[in-house]
Amino acid sequence: MSLSLGLIGHPIGHSLSPWIHDHFIQLAGLDGEYKLYEGDHEQLPSVLKKLREEQIDGFNVTVPYKQVIVDYLDEIDQDAETLGAVNTVVNENGKWKGYSTDGEGYVRSIKEPYPDLFHSQTSVLILGAGGAARGIYRALMQQKVKNIDIANRTQEKAKDLLTLQKDDKNSDVLSFEQAEAQLSKYDLIVQTTSVGMKPNTDKQIIQLNNVKQGAVVSDIVYQPITTKLLADAKSRGAHIHHGHAMLLYQGQLAFEKWTGKNLDVGHLVHKLENKLRGE
Ligand code: ATR
Repeated sequence: MSLSLGLIGHPIGHSLSPWIHDHFIQLAGLDGEYKLYEGDHEQLPSVLKKLREEQIDGFNVTVPYKQVIVDYLDEIDQDAETLGAVNTVVNENGKWKGYSTDGEGYVRSIKEPYPDLFHSQTSVLILGAGGAARGIYRALMQQKVKNIDIANRTQEKAKDLLTLQKDDKNSDVLSFEQAEAQLSKYDLIVQTTSVGMKPNTDKQIIQLNNVKQGAVVSDIVYQPITTKLLADAKSRGAHIHHGHAMLLYQGQLAFEKWTGKNLDVGHLVHKLENKLRGE
């Protein structure tokens, strides 16, 4: 039987998901296709009706529908419900169930190159407190870490993020200035805001003067592939982790939910990088 997958969102013309999932379909030795279903808010109900009629096996959901999609589901995974966002829908015997693979995809992507990063003394700093930060915080809390501090321009949003995990008594909310001053505390720094993204590639959210030797600096922005923050981190001897790896691994997890197949996708990180470079 042929696998039918896709993506809903607006705009999605430049999405890398078809490239990623076409590779996964091939790697899994399956037959199928991953299609783009673009539509504005007004068209969304008819797009979803079409997907129901076509009995699509599963689809991804991206901006701006990660919240509104919840109204069209039959079921929602506990984590996705807590986060209030869904990026993956699975057709489970005719019922649509929503999941969020962003956070766990991020954790998979960073554990691949840094398998020993997480232990009871690992101190993490997340920059930003939006949708991506929420998913990453939740997933990192499920790893063994000492604390996960959150620095955000709007402090209220960071405080709200920490309420996702009521038993987290070790993590603090910081300003960017405070984060810069105590940067040497952190073993992992995760940049989740849009600062530094094309076309504003000369922007850097915080200065890294105090970065710890051996720390990992991670940026979820993948255009450019190496952001100013990552280039700076590298020049200071820190390890770096690129945003496109997260993209690949959140796809890996979605594909696993659709097909039950856990693919080894490590070799595709470099291939995706070449694709992003236009090679
Ligand atoms: P996403 O779903 O990609 O995380 P989002 O929910 O809109 O997007 O969150 C954007 C994040 O980037 C927020 O943390 C936002 O900070 P605020 O909460 O203060 O708005 C942050 N952000 C965006 N532009 C920024 C800028 N110029 N300076 C600092 N933070 C910025």
